[in-house]
Amino acid sequence: MQGSLHREGINMVKAEDLTLIEKASLLSGQSEWESRELKHRNVPAFVMSDGPNGVRRQTGSGDHLGLGESKPATCFPTAGTVANSWDPQEARVMGEALGAEARDLGVQVLLGPGINMKRNPLCGRNFEYYSEDPQLAGRLAAGLIEGIQSQGVGACPKHFAVNSQELRRQASNSIVDERTLREYYLTAFEIAVKEAKPWTIMSSYNMVNGVYAHENEHLITEILKGEWGFDGLVISDWGGSNDIVESARVGAGLEMPAAGLASARQVVQGVKDGRVTEAELNASAQDVLNTVERTRNTHPTGDGFLAEDDKIRNHEIARRIARKTAVLLRNEKNALPLKKNAKLVVVGDMAATARYQGSGSSKVNAYRVDNLLDSLKAREDLQVVGYAQGYDRQGAERADLVKEAVNTVNTTNPDVVVACIGLDERSESEGLDRSHMRIPQAQLDMLAELVDTGKQIVVVLVAGSAVEVDFADDVDAILYVGLSGQAGALATVDVLTGDVNPSGHLAETWPVRYEDVPNSGNFPVEERDSVYREGSFVGYRYYSTRNIPVRYPFGYGLSYSTFEYSALSVDDEGVTFTVTNTSDVPGADV
Ligand code: BGC
Repeated sequence: MQGSLHREGINMVKAEDLTLIEKASLLSGQSEWESRELKHRNVPAFVMSDGPNGVRRQTGSGDHLGLGESKPATCFPTAGTVANSWDPQEARVMGEALGAEARDLGVQVLLGPGINMKRNPLCGRNFEYYSEDPQLAGRLAAGLIEGIQSQGVGACPKHFAVNSQELRRQASNSIVDERTLREYYLTAFEIAVKEAKPWTIMSSYNMVNGVYAHENEHLITEILKGEWGFDGLVISDWGGSNDIVESARVGAGLEMPAAGLASARQVVQGVKDGRVTEAELNASAQDVLNTVERTRNTHPTGDGFLAEDDKIRNHEIARRIARKTAVLLRNEKNALPLKKNAKLVVVGDMAATARYQGSGSSKVNAYRVDNLLDSLKAREDLQVVGYAQGYDRQGAERADLVKEAVNTVNTTNPDVVVACIGLDERSESEGLDRSHMRIPQAQLDMLAELVDTGKQIVVVLVAGSAVEVDFADDVDAILYVGLSGQAGALATVDVLTGDVNPSGHLAETWPVRYEDVPNSGNFPVEERDSVYREGSFVGYRYYSTRNIPVRYPFGYGLSYSTFEYSALSVDDEGVTFTVTNTSDVPGADV
C-alpha cells in the first residue's frame, strides 16, 4: 500500500544499525524544509511544507513566516471557514486536492491541519483553527488528514498542544489542569490521531505546565504515544526545540529547521552522560526513518509545478468548498437571494481586491484570485451600476471615500447596495493577536452613511474569526464568507444569487461584545504564565452555562429554506430526529 510502513521491507533502515552520530544527526533537519539525508545508508531526505489551506512550496533557503516566494498553488478556504461547512467529507475532498498538489510540487509532508482550540476570538491564528468545539475540530481534521494521506503525502496536525495565543508564543507557559487538558485541549488531537492516523504531528512552541511541548513527557510519551498509540513522528514547530537531548529521551523525533550538527553532538554527549539512553535515541531516530519509508515513493509526478488542467480543477474544488462554508447571519424580508436583474452598487475595497486568506506561514501564492466586483459584473442576470472603494483598507479615516460611496448610491439609485467589509490583512496573522474584536472604525462609519441612504443594504462580511457586529440590526442581510480562498468570490456570488442555498453554520460563538468572552481580562497574557482559569468553559460551554446572551450562537446559520425539527429521540446510541424542509426552496441543513 502506498506510503504504508514497510517494516519488513528490504530497504528498511534500522536505527540500531547506524552509528551513534548518524542516528543523532537524523533528529534535526538539514535545511529549512528537509530532514537530513544519509546518502551512504540509502536514507533520503523528505520535504516538508506549509500548509493547511494550500501548498507553500519554497525552494532555495526559504522562511517560515510566509515572507519569501513560493511556487504557485491553490489557496483553499482557511480552516476556520471550512469548519462552517460542518462536513468532514468537504475537508476530505480538500485534503485529497492538497495532497495531490503537494505531490506535484515535491512535498512529502504537509504541515497541517491546525487544530488548536479557539480559546479567545482575538488569537491571531484563529483563522487557521477549526472551532471552539473539539469534536467538530477533530472530525474535520480527520477528514483533511485522510484526504492528504490518500495521496501518499504525510499530514502533520499542529500545534500539540494548548497553543492559544500568539503573543510571546515561544516563551508562554500554558497552565491548565488535567481535566481541562483532556476534556478540551487534547480531544481534537485525540480524535485526529485515532481516526486518521497521521504520519506526523507538530509540537507547539509554548510550554505546557512548565515544560516545553517538544520535550513534554506527559504529552508525548504518556498520552500521544502511550495512550493513543501514535506511531508517527513528532516534529517541533520551526525553532520550537529547546533541549534536543530531552526531546530525544521523550520520543520527539525531529527538531526543525536546521540546527547544524551542534544538535547531533549534544545528543551524542547526552548518551555519554546518561541523560538519554541509546534505546531511547534509537526509538526517536526510528520515527524519522519510518517517515522516510512512508514517503519514499512520493515524488513529483510532473516537473514540480501544477499542470494547467489541475489548476482549473482545483480552482473549481476550492469554489465548491467555499459554497458550503458561507453563513447567512441575517436576511430581513428575504433581501437575499438577489432578485433577477437587480440594480446593484458595490461598495468596499475588499470587493475589488479580495481578502481571502490569512498572513504568516500559511500564506499561499495563489495562481488565480477572483474578486466579488468582477464576479458580480460577470452575471448576465444582474446589473452593477456603480462601484466605490468606500474605505481605506489600512483603517485611515477617509471622508472623501465615504462621500464618493454615498454619491454613487444617490446618483445611480440601485435596488441594493452590496457592501463588502471585514478585517484587513494585518489583523489576522501568525505571531500577532488582534487588539480588539471590531472591524475597523473607518468601515463602520462608512456603513452608517450607507444605511442613511435608505437603500437596501446587503453586507458581505470577510473575517477569519468572530467579530463584533453592532451594525447587525441596521442592515438588511449579512452573508459571512470567512476567508474563503482564491475562488471565494465566485462562491459568494453563487450564494447571493440563490444558485446555491447557504447551509454554513458557525463553528464558534459570536459574542455580543469582547468583554463577554470568559477569558477576556486574561488574554493575551504578557507574562510567562498564562493560567487557564476558565477551565473547559470556553465558547458555548461558558455562554450557555452562565446564560450570557450572544450575538450568534455556535451552530447558527440561516438558509433560503425553512426547516422544522421533530421526533427527537435520545438513547445510548445517540440522537435521532426528523428534519423537514417546510419551504418550496430546495436546501440542505446541518
Ligand atoms: C508555524 C507553523 C509552521 C512553521 C513552518 C511556524 O512559525 O507556527 O505552523 O508550520 O512555522 O513554516
